Amino acid sequence: MPKQQVKLNYKNVMENIIADEHGVTTEQLKDLAEKTSPLIQQLNKERQDGETPYRDLPYKSQIAQQVKELVKQLAGRCENLVVFGIGGSALGNIALQTALNPYMHNLDETQRKGPRLFVFDNVDPPQLVSFLEWLGDELDKTIFNVISKSGRTSETAAQFMIIRKLLLDKLGPNALREQVVATTDGKKGTLRRIADESNLRCLEVPHGVGGRFTVLSAVGLFSAAMCRIDIDSLLEGARDMDTRVKCEDFYKNPAAIIAAVNYHFYNNNKKISVMMPYSYALKDLSDWYRQLWAESLGKKEDLTGNEVHIGPTPVKALGTTDQHSQVQLYREGPNDKLFTFLQVRNFDKDIKIGPAPDCASELGFLAGKDLSELLNNEKKATEYALLESERPCLTVLFDRVNAYTVGQFIYLYEVTTSFAGALFNINPYDQPAVELGKEATFALMGKPDYENLTQEIQSFTDVDEDFLV
Ligand code: PA5
Repeated sequence: MPKQQVKLNYKNVMENIIADEHGVTTEQLKDLAEKTSPLIQQLNKERQDGETPYRDLPYKSQIAQQVKELVKQLAGRCENLVVFGIGGSALGNIALQTALNPYMHNLDETQRKGPRLFVFDNVDPPQLVSFLEWLGDELDKTIFNVISKSGRTSETAAQFMIIRKLLLDKLGPNALREQVVATTDGKKGTLRRIADESNLRCLEVPHGVGGRFTVLSAVGLFSAAMCRIDIDSLLEGARDMDTRVKCEDFYKNPAAIIAAVNYHFYNNNKKISVMMPYSYALKDLSDWYRQLWAESLGKKEDLTGNEVHIGPTPVKALGTTDQHSQVQLYREGPNDKLFTFLQVRNFDKDIKIGPAPDCASELGFLAGKDLSELLNNEKKATEYALLESERPCLTVLFDRVNAYTVGQFIYLYEVTTSFAGALFNINPYDQPAVELGKEATFALMGKPDYENLTQEIQSFTDVDEDFLV
C-alpha cells in the first residue's frame, strides 16, 4: 500500500479563484518558478557541500540508535519525563507530543505507553513550584532532560540549577547521574562542561544545526521515543519529503511553491502569514512553525549587508477555536495576510453527534454526523468565507496524523524556510537579534563583565514616577 503523502493544495491563491490584485496570476507563478528554480539547485548544492547539516538529520541512523539505547536504559524506572529547554530546544518536543500522543496522555494511565511528559520552556515561578509540589516524592521516578546547545541560556541554566540542588538534597550525590540527561553540544559550552564533570548521561545537539532546525536530532527524538512515539517512522517521513523538496521541477516541489507564494504575497502587501490547523493534534506544530519562520526570516540585513528589515510575520491560529476570535479581523480587517490551513482527512478517533433534543429540532442537521465531518466542513466554510473576501489560502493536507506524516511536515517546513531565506536573500540560520536580550539578562542578573551594559539598561528600565499613572 502506498504511504500517506502530505500534500499541498495551492489552488486558492490563484487569481482565477480570487480577484486579480489579491491572487497569483499564471504569469506571476511562471515568474516565481523562474526565480525559484535556480535556488532549488543552489540549496541542493549547499547541502552537498555540507553547509546545511539539518538536511541530513533524517539519515543519521546512529542518532536514533543512541536515543533508543538510552530509552531502553531509562524507560522502566521513569514515570515522568521533564524537559528543560527553550525556543528550538523545546518547541519541537511539545509539537511532537501534542501531535502524536493522545490528548489525555499525562492524565490517563491507560492512554500512555511511556512516562508523562512536561516541557518547561519558561521561568515562571508559580508554574514550576506547582509542578514540583505535585511531583513530591517522585523525584527518583523522574528523568530531567536538560536541553541547551549553548549551555549559557539563563532560563535553562536556572531550571537545571534548581533541580540539581533538589536532586542532590533529596537523593544524594548519585542522583545527577541517575536522573539527568543533558542534551548539548558534543564538545563545547557550559552544559557540556557540567555534564563531563558530573558524569551525566548525554545526547548531542548536532554540530552546525541551529536550535529551531534540531527537532529531528536527539533534541526532539529523545522525549518522543521515551513517550513511545515511533521515531523511525518520523525520520522515514522526513526522508520521503526530502525526495520531493529536492526535486528541481518547481511545480512538483511543495517547499519551493510554499516559499515562492509567501514571497510573492510579502512583496504584494501581505506580510502576515497565518497558519491555521483544523486539528488539535497539529496545533503546536504551528507554534513550532512560528518560531522557525520568525527567527529564520526576520532579518535586518540581506546577504550583501544592505539594511532591509525583512520577514513575514507568522501567526498561529486554531480552527475552529479561532473562527470565534480572529476570523472577523481576517475577513474584514486589512487584506494583509496569506492563510495556510492544515487539514486532516481521516482522524484516528471519531465520534457521532447524538440526536437533537425534542425541543430543539433546529439542531437536527447535526444529529448522527461524525464530529470530524463538522470540523472539516468548518475548515471549508472558513476558507470559502475568506476567499469571498479575496484572502488567499493554501492548504497542507494530511491523510492522517501519524509519525510518518508529521515527519514529512516538519521536513517540508524546514526546507521551505531555507527556500524563503534564499528568496529574501537573507541568512535564515542565524538569530543575531535574540542575542542582545540574552546579554541584557546577564547584565541585569549581575554577571561579571556586564557592568557597562547594566548601566546602559538602567535608564530604560528605571521606573519614572512622572509616567506612572
Ligand atoms: O533556534 C534557536 O537557535 C533558538 O531558539 C535556541 O534554540 C534557543 O535560544 C535556546 O538556545 P540553547 O539551546 O543554546 O539554550
